[in-house]
This record gives sequence, structure tokens and C-alpha cells, in this order.
Amino acid sequence: MDNNDLLVEVKNLQTYFYLDEGTVRAVDGADFNIRRGEILGVVGESGCGKSVTARSIIRIVAKPGRIVGGQILYHRRQNGNGQGEVIDLTQLSAQGDVMRNIRGAEISMVFQEPMTSLSPVHTIGNQIIEAITLHQRVDPQEARAKAIEMLDFVGMPLPDRTIEQYSYELSGGMRQRAMIAMALSCHPSLLIADEPTTALDVTTEAQILTLMRRLQRELGMAIMYITHNLGVVAQMTENVVVMYMGKVVEQADVDTIFHNSLHPYTQALLHSIPHMGTKSIERRRLASIKGMVPDPYALPRGCAFHPRCSDMRPGICDEIEPQMIEVAPGHRVRCDRAAGLA
Ligand SMILES: Nc1ncnc2c1ncn2[C@@H]1O[C@H](COP(=O)(O)OP(=O)(O)O)[C@@H](O)[C@H]1O
Ligand SMILES: [Mg+2]
Repeated sequence: MDNNDLLVEVKNLQTYFYLDEGTVRAVDGADFNIRRGEILGVVGESGCGKSVTARSIIRIVAKPGRIVGGQILYHRRQNGNGQGEVIDLTQLSAQGDVMRNIRGAEISMVFQEPMTSLSPVHTIGNQIIEAITLHQRVDPQEARAKAIEMLDFVGMPLPDRTIEQYSYELSGGMRQRAMIAMALSCHPSLLIADEPTTALDVTTEAQILTLMRRLQRELGMAIMYITHNLGVVAQMTENVVVMYMGKVVEQADVDTIFHNSLHPYTQALLHSIPHMGTKSIERRRLASIKGMVPDPYALPRGCAFHPRCSDMRPGICDEIEPQMIEVAPGHRVRCDRAAGLA
């Protein structure tokens, strides 16, 4: 990979929640890169640390959560003739000037539930205008014109009317478009989309997915697309990170993930998609992954997936924590047996 292509490097990220009941290692050594302009899919079952990883990148992890280790290297491209710079986002103060300039402007995020990021007491327009004026030197009229332009760009019908509306007056799909317009209003180099279509019906979901792909193409931004839906991954993404219990267990391009995946967890996820199965009996049998997601307070020793793995080797998988192995350029797997080394 050309170093110029790198946008974000997440290195051994650890984000823990310190609760009275114990410590939740929500993200526990996650490693992956996001390249400029790519759509990276992040998949894994509920609770595996996808959202906490995303929130760590833009430094909005809620207390009692904290980044306790690792680096998030953001390769910032300078405007004009200045050199680019590399900033470790984990070292910034979450409410400091640098992070506030980056958050929402250079790296922005859309959430599953738009109501969490859209205010019920301000019009859609005022919120987008605020996002614009916070980061760009424009007068109110220009900001308003940009907001309308942005709403139009994301396919909002009658944008000059919608701008005066409140989020509760819009349908779910329109709210999602308004949130995307707000997230894109400063032309970020990375958009983090955290299950943005999960709450929508399939028709609206398809429209939002089409919209996101168009935006990525036309604006040249990277998208970190978080989902538990492998069908969406197949449609949307170029490269895929598979997470399990706070770690990346496999990373590859989307074709490799679907046709040559190696990690038993990735394979189990693939088999759990009904329409991907070949025979209907097999489809039913593999409809869900064996076993439960482990208790986050007490992660198993060795490989966190070993209690659910059909290839588990006693004395090895339940003892030794597997390391990430690069099996081909761009294809990494955290399992020595799956990598063909054992
Ligand atoms: N605010 C919080 N307080 C305590 N634990 C949390 C909090 N947010 C997330 N977690 C825990 O961190 C783990 C990862 O959560 P999350 O990143 O939200 O998973 P997902 O992959 O579904 O997005 C889970 O065990 C979850 O319970
Ligand atoms: Mg989540």
C-alpha cells in the first residue's frame, strides 16, 4: 500500500469501560487501516466493539469508558502547499481545539438512530447551518445556501422547505438524509456510518445505500461502514474488517472475505446469511452461530472464539492468544490454524 493512501491507522486500540461490576474490554487490541477514498466495512455480531471503535476515533467514548492503549494515527492532508501531518488522535484532548476541528469537519459520523444526533428543538436547517459555521468562515446567508445545497445533494425533496422543518416532522429515511447532509456539510475525508440503515425499511435502506455510494464516488471521501449485515457489506464495501470481542480477527478485500475467508468466525458469519447457503436444509442448520457471545466481563483465555469454534484445539486455542498473520498482501487472519501454519 502506498503510504500516501493511508488515512487512518488504528493500532492496537484498547478502549475499556470501568464499571462497578468489572472492566468491559470493549475494544481490546483492534488493528486496521482506512485508506483514502475507500469504503471499509466493519462487521461482527452485536457487542463486538464496532461502535466503541468508531466513537474512539472521533473521541466521543462515553464515561466510564476510556482509551487505555494504542494509537489512532490520522494522516491529515494540509490545504495549500503545506506538508501533510500525522496526528495520534488518542493523544488529543477530546474537547480540545484540534479534536474539535477534526470532529464533524474532517471526520464525521452518522448513527443508527438520527434522533441521537439531530436535536428535536432546532430546525434541520439551523443544525446544518451551525455545523457549517462552526468549521467554515461563511456568513449566515452563504451557510444557509450551502445547507440547502447539501440537502438537495442528499436527495431531500423540496430542500428549501425541509430546511425549516424539525426532525420529528420527517420520515425515518428523510431524517437519515438530513443527518447525512449535516455530516457531509464540511466535506469530511472520513465518514463513519454506524449501522445507518438498521432502523429503516428495506426500500429506504436501499435508497440510503445508493446515496452513500454516490457520495463516496462524487466527494472522494472514505467511509467506514459499520454493520452486522453481510449483505450490506457485499453491496457497499471494498475492504472488510471482521471484529470479534474487541479484536479484528480477519481483514481482506470483499471478494476474499466472501469466497476465501479463513477465520472460523468469518465463515460462521457467512453461513448465517440465509440466501448465501446452497441447500435449504444446510441453510436452516447454519442459521445461527453455535454458542453465545462470551460474557464481556470475563473473556475466555487464549482465542476469544475458542468456545464456539468447531476446530478448537485443546491446550492451544484455550491457552495461547493468537496473533494476526498476513497470509497474502492485504489478507490478515488471527488464527494460526486457519492461516495454514498449524
Ligand atoms: N457506555 C457503555 N458503558 C458500558 N459498557 C459499554 C458502553 N458502551 C458499550 N459498552 C460495551 O462495550 C462492548 C462493545 O459495545 P459496542 O461497541 O457498542 O458493540 P457493537 O459492536 O454492537 O457496536 C459491549 O460489551 C458493550 O456492552
Ligand atoms: Mg453498535
